[in-house]
Amino acid sequence: MTDTAQSAERHRTDEPGLTILVTGAAGFIGSNFVRAVRRDRPEWQVRVLDCLTYAGDRRRLAGVDVDFIEGDIADPEAARGAVDGASLVVNFAAESHVDRSLLDASDFMRTNVAGAYTIMRAAVDAGVEKFVQVSTDEVYGESRGRAFTERDLLNPRSPYSASKAGGEMQAFAVGVSFGLPVCVTRGVNTVGPWQHPEKAVPLFTINALRDRPLPVYGRGEQRRDRLHVQDHCSAIFTVLERGQPGEVYNISAGNNRDNLTVARAICARLGKPESLIQFVQDRPGHDWDYILDSTRLRELGWAPRYDFQTTLDSTVDWYAANEGWWGPLVEGEFREYYATQYGDRLRKSPP
Ligand code: NAD
Ligand code: TYD
Repeated sequence: MTDTAQSAERHRTDEPGLTILVTGAAGFIGSNFVRAVRRDRPEWQVRVLDCLTYAGDRRRLAGVDVDFIEGDIADPEAARGAVDGASLVVNFAAESHVDRSLLDASDFMRTNVAGAYTIMRAAVDAGVEKFVQVSTDEVYGESRGRAFTERDLLNPRSPYSASKAGGEMQAFAVGVSFGLPVCVTRGVNTVGPWQHPEKAVPLFTINALRDRPLPVYGRGEQRRDRLHVQDHCSAIFTVLERGQPGEVYNISAGNNRDNLTVARAICARLGKPESLIQFVQDRPGHDWDYILDSTRLRELGWAPRYDFQTTLDSTVDWYAANEGWWGPLVEGEFREYYATQYGDRLRKSPP
């Protein structure tokens, strides 16, 4: 983020004392973003709107100076109250896990489509000067080795990615119909501190730490580009400052690796045997890969700082040192989810 701070062209974000609303900031990427804003723009007022779903956790913001509003982006009154007086908005609030969307997608439609519309419509009425809708690489569907640019057609293949595509459509429509200065970002698979234990890298790490099986879907051949959360946050900040309203920006690191390589690297970092890796029944409709061309964003001056090994090692080390945070999260609601998602898979697959 600090690189972009020197820009002369930035979007009135040099106003001291401005208010930025960050939705979904009790979650993984939003909380990292808020910490970065606090560090790099200490003069800003930071307001958070988050309804604290199973994925939200206020402990991610412990000790961070924010005005926290517990509320739902899909509730027009809460949305209006939260955007009032804000000049910048970044919308991270979402249901974010593909596997959960395959179990029941109703909350995904509500938050990712209707909620996105509601918070954007409130932003129009409040005269917000820049709105960033945080979307995902998954809206393109799988790329099978070819790199997507922002001009490619969307072909979402899971209920999660379809709902995120729906949120994007609302962004374009509210931009055109009501003049909201909105940019959309499409970031790749993100890893780093504070990610929920349901996602692959934390799950594999936590299970390895506890000498439990690492459930790798299929044969572990699907590939993801692992972007460090700090790089994702600096990219969003670049778009907030310099993105053209109405434009989409791909965010990619080029750290593409298959899932088996990732599971092996986690075992190696923790000194655990690879025999903990267990191939289990694949995710239905499992996208093979998402490769993104992020030239448009790089032309705004952004570049990632973390390569694959540094991203993975620093994340694994963070989980090894922070059981005090994730320990309570893998109890309660997560136990039930884990039993539903992995019970049969782990029983049916050979050890
Ligand atoms: P997360 O699941 O960790 O956090 C989501 C947060 O949103 C939680 O704090 C939750 O309480 C809150 N929330 C959910 N529904 C809400 C609602 N209706 N109103 C208010 N708050 C609500 O998600 P994340 O991984 O931090 O992802 C953040 C955003 O980035 C999402 O929009 C996601 O689609 C996108 N994204 C994520 C990744 C990734 O790899 N994690 C990659 C690209 C894009
Ligand atoms: P995930 O972290 O759920 O992110 P996304 O599906 O949004 O990219 O999964 C990353 C990759 O890891 C994906 O290819 C699915 C795979 N995966 C497993 O093999 N086992 C698991 O238990 C999980 C959660 C994911």
